[in-house]
Amino acid sequence: MNALNRDLKKLTQIIEEKEAGRILKDSYALKFHIMPKVGWLNDPNGLCQFKGKYHVFFQYSPFDEKGGLKFWGHYTSIDMIHWKNENTALYADQPFDCHGVYSGSALIDENKMYLYYTGNVKQVGKHDYVTTGREHNTVMVVSEDGKTFTHKELLMTNEDYGSEMTCHVRDPKVWKEDNMYYMVQGARDKKDRGQILLFASEDKIVWKVINKIQSEDVFGYMWECPDFFELDGQKVLLLSPQGIEADGIKYNNIYQSGYYVVEGDITTSEYALSGFEEMDRGFDFYAPQTFIDEQGRRILIGWMGLPDIDDLYSNPTTEHGWQHALTIPRELHMKEGKLIQQPIEELKNLRSKVVGLELKENNTKIQLPAHTFELELMLETLKKDLKIIIRKGAVLEYKAEEKVISLIFDECGYGRDKRSVQIEVVKNIRIFGDTSSLEIFLNDGEEVFTSRYYPSTEENQIEVEGIELNGKLNLWEMKAIT
Ligand code: FRU
Repeated sequence: MNALNRDLKKLTQIIEEKEAGRILKDSYALKFHIMPKVGWLNDPNGLCQFKGKYHVFFQYSPFDEKGGLKFWGHYTSIDMIHWKNENTALYADQPFDCHGVYSGSALIDENKMYLYYTGNVKQVGKHDYVTTGREHNTVMVVSEDGKTFTHKELLMTNEDYGSEMTCHVRDPKVWKEDNMYYMVQGARDKKDRGQILLFASEDKIVWKVINKIQSEDVFGYMWECPDFFELDGQKVLLLSPQGIEADGIKYNNIYQSGYYVVEGDITTSEYALSGFEEMDRGFDFYAPQTFIDEQGRRILIGWMGLPDIDDLYSNPTTEHGWQHALTIPRELHMKEGKLIQQPIEELKNLRSKVVGLELKENNTKIQLPAHTFELELMLETLKKDLKIIIRKGAVLEYKAEEKVISLIFDECGYGRDKRSVQIEVVKNIRIFGDTSSLEIFLNDGEEVFTSRYYPSTEENQIEVEGIELNGKLNLWEMKAIT
């Protein structure tokens, strides 16, 4: 599609109006997650709280539920629970972004919202989109009200990233520190080494590369969607690397998302990266981004999906004209050198009917009040195996001898089979179940499994099977926000 010759705004409106009803009829439409109004959603973009309101932008392809031309969709909220669709914020309508308004971030400064993103252009007739044939432009727009945006300003083009880079430099994340502005972008160099470019600016407009952040050994060919921040006294670099081989139960997804803890100063060569840690052990988690809200919390939202998975597993929602969603917002902390993720406190407002039980029996069966639930299990000691069977098709299984916990799906996984992680002791488990998603938090967020699944709507039971179980179980129905 030649984006410049079409009225993309009008087309989007027609499609959104025509298709919206179709999605609502889908029993797998989510009840308390951000999902696209129609079509396809991927990365969260431009996360921020601006003048009291939370903003979530996202990669949006309303014309095609299997992906295609990317715009920025937009939701706002005053409580991070109820989201208002603000419709499409940025269209691919300029010569420098006509093949996609790719991912980026928000900077709140001087009472304005600055959005930075990658303008993607595929040069016609050139099919090597790695080393030549692609423009990856850094673009900025400004907003005073969080709803209307100034004209797009082109800040950097291919020449500005260094001749050793391929055409893959993208996803600017911007922050302010000591009266300077910094930006990280994900990159692939001509030796196929994934890395981060660090830029600096005095005025938010003129940027210069000041460093390359690389791991000691090559770790994948491309690092997408970086983020950098200080949390509880430690520096953290988030990234989504591509090209990592599976290693036992690690790195089993097509692409990973995770972090390095950084020692030293990233603006100089005096820095060191710790070992890479995966952030999520489930089947559907990628391209997470963070922001600080007005209460000073570091909040993370990820894409509950992955790119390029068509040969591996699928989502039947495409039959209803939509695909993918964002995770629930999670508050981040560092604990003993590890990044932990906890569902934001506000989510407790969605809890309605509760069932509370002492876990003494070896086998407990509970009828779910609805397809949406939060399950909390507080375990005094778990020395023996445990199985939680959710709506028949999903099993969370702890094997005490191996100290491994796994998430296993039958055919309701649509190709998703088994993912596992090593865990010393299991103290507590919190599961957020939506109509077609599970987010499982272990030991107050030390480990997380995020996944889509498509159980039969008839299956409403949760079974907890264990030996010498001791603990407490709470199960809430979750209110719908849609
Ligand atoms: C990650 C990503 C980004 C890019 C965007 C395009 O999923 O590939 O690197 O900006 O998606 O939609």
